[in-house]
Amino acid sequence: MSKNSEKPEEGKEPESSWKDVIYNPRTGEFFGRTARNWGLILLFYLVFYGFLTAMFVFTMWAMLQTLNDDAPKYRDRVASPGLAIRPNSLNIVFNRSEPLQYGQYVQHLESFLHQYNDSEQAKNDLCMVGQYSEQDEEPQKKVCQFRRSLLQDCSGIEDTTFGYAQGQPCVIVKMNRIIGLKPAGDPYINCTSKSEKPLQMQYFPHEGTIDRMYFPYYGKKAHSEKPLQMQYFPHEGTIDRMYFPYYGKKAHEGYVQPLVAVKLLLKKEDYNSELIVECMVEGSNLKNNDERDKFLGRITFRVLVTE
Ligand SMILES: *[C@@H]1O[C@H](CO)[C@@H](O)[C@H](O)[C@H]1NC(C)=O
Ligand SMILES: *[C@@H]1O[C@H](CO)[C@@H](O)[C@H](O)[C@H]1NC(C)=O
Ligand SMILES: *[C@@H]1O[C@H](CO)[C@@H](O)[C@H](O)[C@H]1NC(C)=O
Repeated sequence: MSKNSEKPEEGKEPESSWKDVIYNPRTGEFFGRTARNWGLILLFYLVFYGFLTAMFVFTMWAMLQTLNDDAPKYRDRVASPGLAIRPNSLNIVFNRSEPLQYGQYVQHLESFLHQYNDSEQAKNDLCMVGQYSEQDEEPQKKVCQFRRSLLQDCSGIEDTTFGYAQGQPCVIVKMNRIIGLKPAGDPYINCTSKSEKPLQMQYFPHEGTIDRMYFPYYGKKAHSEKPLQMQYFPHEGTIDRMYFPYYGKKAHEGYVQPLVAVKLLLKKEDYNSELIVECMVEGSNLKNNDERDKFLGRITFRVLVTE
């Protein structure tokens, strides 16, 4: 009962107040505040956000002043490069009688080497062999030539299949770029190979010729050492100091990394069995045996050539 009597009273008030919420002609208030009041609030936020923006812009600017366009600000203390190979596959498998099977590798090598074309490299500088190309002051850094023809049998110039058609494939080893790196000593690439015992020996040991020496069998993982002949280009797989240091993508336009090509001289008995090849950078202070990073200064890949 009491609720009924209250309702009419309540009903009046809200009607007048909801309009007043928007604009109250008596006090001149919009949404409960006068124009002056609104103006002050607006001013406050303008100043407040203006200040925040200015502070943000200033700190950003101040931080950018400390950066250098040419080189990253924070780098590992002792940088060591990783190794990579071309063709870009850690599992090189092909039948040397089937051009379709090795075509992708050949094409990959060919397109990778375009930037090393002698005609392209002729534009770059001839540098002093064995000397670092230090040029910290020069705004325009010179680029040392690395001519494709240095890779000789693995250059793809005379043998356009890079040895794949003969079943003696070339693999190009390159070191990742690290700005400012100057390897001490005379780095070179050294590759070693392992192979699994030929399948016939594992599964069909027969007669006295293949005797006790093959037993016991220690499982698939235990590899037998079996040196494979390899040929390095340039000679002895050396990486000349003249290609260091590298000054960064922007400062050192057109820089090309030095390469080492390794020709795997497979023989008749090497076909149809898997070879594991490990290449390492040696002869310098560059790391090549990090427990955690198996690509630091080394790379392992598999090769299986059938005929
Ligand atoms: C590099 O040389 C090869 C032939 O040796 C040619 O087909 C290719 O177009 C050249 N590439 C450049 C970028 O000059
Ligand atoms: C290459 O590495 C193998 C195995 O570690 C080693 O026996 C050989 O002496 C090395 N060759 C060179 C030229 O350092
Ligand atoms: C490789 O290719 C040749 C020719 O096509 C063929 O006779 C041979 O059986 C192939 N080898 C293997 C292991 O597939």
